[in-house]
Amino acid sequence: MSVKRKKRNGSMTKQHVILIGLMGTGKTTVGQELHKRIAYPWVDTDQALESKWGFSIARYFAQYGEEAFRKEETTILKAILDGPPSIITTGGGIVLRQENCEWMRQKGWVIHLTAHPEVLIQRLSHDQSRPLLLGNVADKIWQLIKERKGKYDFADITIDTSKQTIDGVIQEIIREWQKFKR
Ligand code: S3P
Repeated sequence: MSVKRKKRNGSMTKQHVILIGLMGTGKTTVGQELHKRIAYPWVDTDQALESKWGFSIARYFAQYGEEAFRKEETTILKAILDGPPSIITTGGGIVLRQENCEWMRQKGWVIHLTAHPEVLIQRLSHDQSRPLLLGNVADKIWQLIKERKGKYDFADITIDTSKQTIDGVIQEIIREWQKFKR
């Protein structure tokens, strides 16, 4: 089992459970399952934006571009962080803005999900919904890995999802969460 943990005590302000990580690391699937196991509502930043706009992320990127998307992403993240304690799953690029990272760190217990590049490529090779993967998926993933190196390092724990079942990942998270809350 591969879990890296930072020593930090449980804090009243860190009230959310937040999942960050590159596309394809399993944030949404894990968030959904975690929601069934701990009594917190589940909110996804991408889904919240799509419901607000009434159309997809892909369409938003095509119409308004990435910079506008990042602004919207920051606004929705802030609103969610100001809400009740929740499991929050985020878009892979949420870490691109330093302010987002600072708020997430202050207001949540942050879990970074990772996976080996080959696993990401396999999981995402037929994906049509992610605008940043248009073209050669393998090349795009390698590029994102390079560009985002170190950006997720502020997380409280890091879990590699490459070789584990969802249930294994959930059990690990719950074990770590209980330690953090102590
Ligand atoms: C993005 C990841 C996507 C989505 C958008 C941009 C990124 O979310 O927010 O396509 O920049 O990594 P997922 O990580 O849930 O796929």
